[in-house]
Amino acid sequence: MSSPATVRSPSAETSADIRAKLHHEDPYAGFDATAIAPDLQGWNGNSPFFGELINKLRPQLVLEVGSWKGQSAATMGRALQQLGGERTLVCVDTWLGALEFRTDHEDPERYRGLAIRHGYPQVYYQFLANMVHAGLQNTVVPFPQTSLIAARWFLVNGIGADLIYIDGSHEENDVYADLVYYWQIAKPGAVVFGDDFVAWEGVRKAVTTFAQEQGLEVGVRDNNFWILQKPA
Ligand SMILES: C[S@@+](CC[C@H](N)C(=O)[O-])C[C@H]1O[C@@H](n2cnc3c(N)ncnc32)[C@H](O)[C@@H]1O
Repeated sequence: MSSPATVRSPSAETSADIRAKLHHEDPYAGFDATAIAPDLQGWNGNSPFFGELINKLRPQLVLEVGSWKGQSAATMGRALQQLGGERTLVCVDTWLGALEFRTDHEDPERYRGLAIRHGYPQVYYQFLANMVHAGLQNTVVPFPQTSLIAARWFLVNGIGADLIYIDGSHEENDVYADLVYYWQIAKPGAVVFGDDFVAWEGVRKAVTTFAQEQGLEVGVRDNNFWILQKPA
């Protein structure tokens, strides 16, 4: 897969620079979170593994691809806050779901969780409210975009990340594409990881193929998380 032509090498931009580049206006400004009760339904987002990785790497910039209502984002955001300093988690998601969110209209978590009104999902506002309820407005920045367009945005802006969690589409080709793009955004020594390595064949195949091509070893944790580390 080819990469964008205008890629800049990762620089040491501050979290404030990245926030300002992403949003002309603070996405939380004027947002009434009290109108939406907390609901952090999600998948594998409460694992202590997130905090362990964050405490070990002490990342300045973390990227998450696939945030849904913000379960894993809240776990990582709290761990970043506890470390102190200027640390940011950018959450990339269309908040439109993935294939499995559209295949069963009776699924209470996925299809119903999209909270579709007038044909368009509203789950983004649940995410935003959850971040406010968790007091994470200064740490978590939403980036409502497809994973690949967001990746190109990071690349053309020369933004490198220390930790990247890939949990968007679980289709093999999509996961592979996310890996190809986000691997370029990962700084030397950064960790790129995801979940569903055992439960989702497409995820396992994509990660295994990518790791073989790059000569990397795939770490597996809790029979669920896959882990790749970029050589320092
Ligand atoms: C499994 S959920 C994420 C779960 C979340 N990490 C948690 O802790 O519960 C997958 C998310 O990826 C998003 N997604 C799927 N494909 C995407 C794509 N190509 N670009 C951006 N977001 C995508 C969906 O909208 C959905 O919110």
